[in-house]
Amino acid sequence: MPVIYHSAGQTFHLYNPYYSYIIKLLPDGTPGQLYFGPPLTHRENFDSLLELRDRPLQVNCSPAWSCFSLDSVKLEYPCAGTTDFRRTALEAALPDGSRTLEPRYLRHEITPGKPPLPGLPATYVEEGSEADTLSLLLLDEPTGLQITLRYTVFANHAALARSVCVQNTGAAPLTLTRAMSFCLDLPESDYQWMEFIGGWGKERTPVLRDLAPGVTSIESVQGCSSAQENPFAILKRKETTEFAGEALGFSLVYSGNFLLQAQVDSWDNTRILGGIHPEGFGWVLYPGDTFTTPEAVLAYTQSGLNDLSQTYHALYRSRLARGEWRDKPRPVLLNSWEAFYMDFDQEDLLRLARSAAQLGVELFVLDDGWFGHRRDDDHASLGDWFPNSKKLPGGIAALSAEVHRLGMLFGLWFEPEMVNEDSDLYRAHPDWVVQTPGRMRGVGRNQYVLDFSRQEVVDNLYGQMEQVLAQGKVDYVKWDMNRCITQPYSAALPPHRQGEFYHRYILGVYSLYERLTHRFPHILFESCASGGNRFDPGMLYYAPQAWCSDNTDAVARLQIQYGTSYCYPLSSMGSHVSVCPNHQVFRTTPLETRFGVAIFGAFGYELDVTKLPDQQREEIKQQIAFFKEHRSLLQFGAFYRLKSPFAGNIAGWMVVSPDKTKAIAGEYKILTQANAPYRRLKLAGLDPHALYAVNGENPRYGDELMQAGLVTTDSTSGRSGQPEPAQGDFSCRLFYLEAE
Ligand code: DGJ
Repeated sequence: MPVIYHSAGQTFHLYNPYYSYIIKLLPDGTPGQLYFGPPLTHRENFDSLLELRDRPLQVNCSPAWSCFSLDSVKLEYPCAGTTDFRRTALEAALPDGSRTLEPRYLRHEITPGKPPLPGLPATYVEEGSEADTLSLLLLDEPTGLQITLRYTVFANHAALARSVCVQNTGAAPLTLTRAMSFCLDLPESDYQWMEFIGGWGKERTPVLRDLAPGVTSIESVQGCSSAQENPFAILKRKETTEFAGEALGFSLVYSGNFLLQAQVDSWDNTRILGGIHPEGFGWVLYPGDTFTTPEAVLAYTQSGLNDLSQTYHALYRSRLARGEWRDKPRPVLLNSWEAFYMDFDQEDLLRLARSAAQLGVELFVLDDGWFGHRRDDDHASLGDWFPNSKKLPGGIAALSAEVHRLGMLFGLWFEPEMVNEDSDLYRAHPDWVVQTPGRMRGVGRNQYVLDFSRQEVVDNLYGQMEQVLAQGKVDYVKWDMNRCITQPYSAALPPHRQGEFYHRYILGVYSLYERLTHRFPHILFESCASGGNRFDPGMLYYAPQAWCSDNTDAVARLQIQYGTSYCYPLSSMGSHVSVCPNHQVFRTTPLETRFGVAIFGAFGYELDVTKLPDQQREEIKQQIAFFKEHRSLLQFGAFYRLKSPFAGNIAGWMVVSPDKTKAIAGEYKILTQANAPYRRLKLAGLDPHALYAVNGENPRYGDELMQAGLVTTDSTSGRSGQPEPAQGDFSCRLFYLEAE
């Protein structure tokens, strides 16, 4: 049983082979945090870890306790208005206008398995034995607000899932103004905070800073999780590397406005809080109503950042992603976007499809431009999800039938949440657009956001999409989202409930995903938001892959995929070979490098292959054959970051099969130097005693490959007498290892 309760010490010990997490009820019944770290031998109580002290300027909970202030203890779910002056997890506007909440222990339940979160994405289990869940019920007596803190301990993952459910069991309505998914108080502050920042075309760049007194935070208030800051952060020790040392991960399974923050207090405690961003948030709870926060997944390691990432990869790949495609090999796709943009007709598409089929492509994806009366540029037709009769006289059904006849699956692009002013949908329902009455109406990419907090809007989009998907025999959907929310307001909500808009919007998005994935379980969904503007675990629950970035340049992608890999598995990162000069950065890179980067992701092509010289088409044929041979290793293997593309001229990464008999490593050189230094790529994750052939020759033991490394020195460093592969700028070498 990974959750034990001892009533004498009122202590909960949550543990698995990777960590212990210890909660103790404090003298007033508030749950306190005693420990989160490597597994501890179980004891009936861990009171030795509880410090109740009389600190200067401290305000004690009551005259009865001279040494007990919530400000100087570690807490599980701190609330507003108490003796704790740090940032809090829960605040509500109460019927009498006050904001103080003092929830105390009521009861608890320990159950096998993990209950779902209603309407929200969350990790799950398939057998009760995979996890235990502690539900800790607290009650704020004066209001009747009942708060359930949920903790799920997985038996086989170094992860702890948390969420909170707040129920109004009182007689009067109240408004939640802050309801975070978790709080974690740590007794130290000598950590580095690692966050993943960026923007369009440069998503998820890791940034490190030392924690300092005060608040460090990342957030989004754009209505989506955003390319600027991803809902994921790591706390690591200064000395922690990719391969050793302590680190904690904090990941929010959520796609809307979020806040993740660390606060260091004056006694060097660190408080981590995460959840829905409180800015503009207000959720009215009438008597009997319940509010459930999104899930947060915490992870712990003593073995470095690769190990922490592998915890998220394994959990998110197998117990967050769902559906038929979770465990199925992903098809090699070809997407029409960079080939044609919106300028195509059926003949163009079929010419491309025929050519793609000859190369071994398995899924042909028709991107933007196929629908409505005039989708020839981005000014019109969003909202009108019927095929454009000029471009596709036979509709989607005829096109998909032809693609299927060529032996490929057929995929289609949608942007369900958006509308253009020039569309039948807008003309019929101008009031469905998100806008604040009497204010300016922001416009991005000539489009407006549909109010997905309204059931009738979601129903309309479901009806339109269902028809196309059912009639057209579609196997894959790319769900795009190309502008953020401004002037937030829903015409369907009363004034006092406008604070619910952002969260209701994202619940509407989730509900449409839920209905479509349920109706079409065979369809592979890929989420997208101008590339990586909504790349988060919430989306992965519905769509097991996401378009990583609109930037398809191989050199830029090295950084983007490397940064993304800190939390997200390779199987989730849509990643394509595109044409050169590249359309985003205008760089020309070798085809083999573009391939060598893109196969470390959900792999495909995005270019007009009919225009390539025969020799490149032949190269692509061989690339696809190589990928098909090794795709299960790439999709399900353990991923290791070896050399950071942010740190120097050389980058490297690899995947290792679960049984360690196979591996593929990629080494990438940005610029060639004359008289270059000697170079080695130290591999990881291999069986030290197994003998591995490297690209079919010269077998070496795993320990040599990991401790001494592969010699990869450039031929520009001396006259070797032999031409070597991977010469020149932006070059790549792939090493395939197989144990004898
Ligand atoms: C943005 C996406 O990221 C692109 O891949 C493409 O689908 C365009 N939108 C289409 O408008």
